[in-house]
Amino acid sequence: LHVVHIAAEMAPVAKVGGLGDVLSALSKALQKKGHLVEIILPKYDCMQYESIQNLRVLDLAVESYFDGHLFKNKIWIGTVEGLPVYFIEPLHPAKFFWRGKTYGEPDDLKRFSFFSRAALELLHQSGKKPDIIHCHDWQTAFVAPLYWDLYAPKGLNSARICFTCHNFEYQGTASASEIASCGLDIHHLNRPDRMQDNSSHDRLNPVKGAIVFSNIVTTVSPTYAQEVRTSQGGQGLHATLNAHSQKFVGILNGIDTDSWNPATDTYLSFQYNSSDLEGKSENKNALRRHLGLSLSDSRRPLVGCITRLVPQKGVHLIRHAIYRALELGGQFVLLGSSPVPNIHREFEEIAKKFQTHEHIRLILKYDEALSHSIYAASDMFIIPSIFEPCGLTQMIAMRYGAIPVARKTGGLNDSVFDVDDDTIPIQLRNGFTFVTPDEHAFNGAFDRAFKYYKNDSEGWEELMKKVMNIDFSWDTSASQYEELYLQSVSKAKAARR
Ligand code: ADP
Ligand code: GLC
Repeated sequence: LHVVHIAAEMAPVAKVGGLGDVLSALSKALQKKGHLVEIILPKYDCMQYESIQNLRVLDLAVESYFDGHLFKNKIWIGTVEGLPVYFIEPLHPAKFFWRGKTYGEPDDLKRFSFFSRAALELLHQSGKKPDIIHCHDWQTAFVAPLYWDLYAPKGLNSARICFTCHNFEYQGTASASEIASCGLDIHHLNRPDRMQDNSSHDRLNPVKGAIVFSNIVTTVSPTYAQEVRTSQGGQGLHATLNAHSQKFVGILNGIDTDSWNPATDTYLSFQYNSSDLEGKSENKNALRRHLGLSLSDSRRPLVGCITRLVPQKGVHLIRHAIYRALELGGQFVLLGSSPVPNIHREFEEIAKKFQTHEHIRLILKYDEALSHSIYAASDMFIIPSIFEPCGLTQMIAMRYGAIPVARKTGGLNDSVFDVDDDTIPIQLRNGFTFVTPDEHAFNGAFDRAFKYYKNDSEGWEELMKKVMNIDFSWDTSASQYEELYLQSVSKAKAARR
């Protein structure tokens, strides 16, 4: 198959969160299965350019429509993680991708609807005929309706469209006139069974449009796929998802087990594996030294948390865990950044309060290298999310021998199983879980983890070895995507016959 991903992120060149990880790891896994996989990204000024090999401009001036005008795009190509990646640089006066950041601009809707249109133009003008065009999240959701409105009739019509929603909280809803800028026919789309927002009827919803107009719709875990089909979890889209349930499926993400591997990780001072855990305690001491934390007791558990600090992630429970870890005799390291000003301010104050504390450190920025050191140093890792479409940090933590303490929601429910839950086969039990999103329930899991760590060091070591050997690779999940692609392609062929 020829698969083209169109997305706003890809690790390591342009990563904000898990979407970036998924883009490169899923693409690599599909490539390994023998498919031709290409990726189209915006050419951000703030990319990690040192991770792109052979970056050059293509002799292909792609013109794309926006707001009544045609604009030229410079098309670059390079190799990232062994994958061919096209980068679109719009020659538009608004300098859409010269902003020093990936998201969070007031004109994000314009930036990404422009990009979605330009990506389809790139495919069309370069004569590519992919079998699958796979778009991700609201930023590239425009691709689905644009494709059927404008590009299928132009001959790209052998492609099937797959849309993966990594988080239904973000839908890109906007007024019809804003959505019209990229050339979508809003009169045809502004209907309750098409792109009209389910609650604000005068607005259009790109994610809804992608659900309606894609051949395959996925989200990133089976439990989240169930949750979003209910009125409590569906962020207003449950009825749409239920109406299209025959093409909607939840597939649990994997992680890139090459980049996330404590045995080869070059970010670590000491590499280690499940049969030789000494390096893990060396990393714990190295991190404690680096952050100025007390080294006095090697059996003092270190709790890690690496996250975007947004309400989804259960910030009140993260804040609570800092104090609880201290009460229980542990150390706590948080690496987080927040796009929400009052959350950022709140954590800045806590960080300041503890800036010279011997057991607590808060580092409020995005730092890839430090994240690897924290996974390796942590004994426990908390993910107390209010909702979590999949979550990758629990899987990465386990790969590095840090035991997760997680709320049972979304993908956490599909990957973390309580050590004390007799209803789960013992070989699957790998962490500590809780259900109600409050401090009391959190303590129920967190305190048990501390007790286990302190009272049964042998049992804990066995648990570490067990979680490090769980297969979180993309192999199984990439096969599920492959299967969906193949089914959709053969269905289309049969229909054309
Ligand atoms: P989400 O995509 O909702 O942020 P995921 O758990 O799917 O959550 O993925 C988060 C990814 O981003 C992980 O690879 C994690 O290590 C990384 N990450 C999150 N915050 C930071 C940070 N402040 N510094 C470095 N990496 C981070
Ligand atoms: C989103 C979700 C997260 C998921 C990631 C990758 O950012 O919040 O749960 O793991 O996408 O699919």
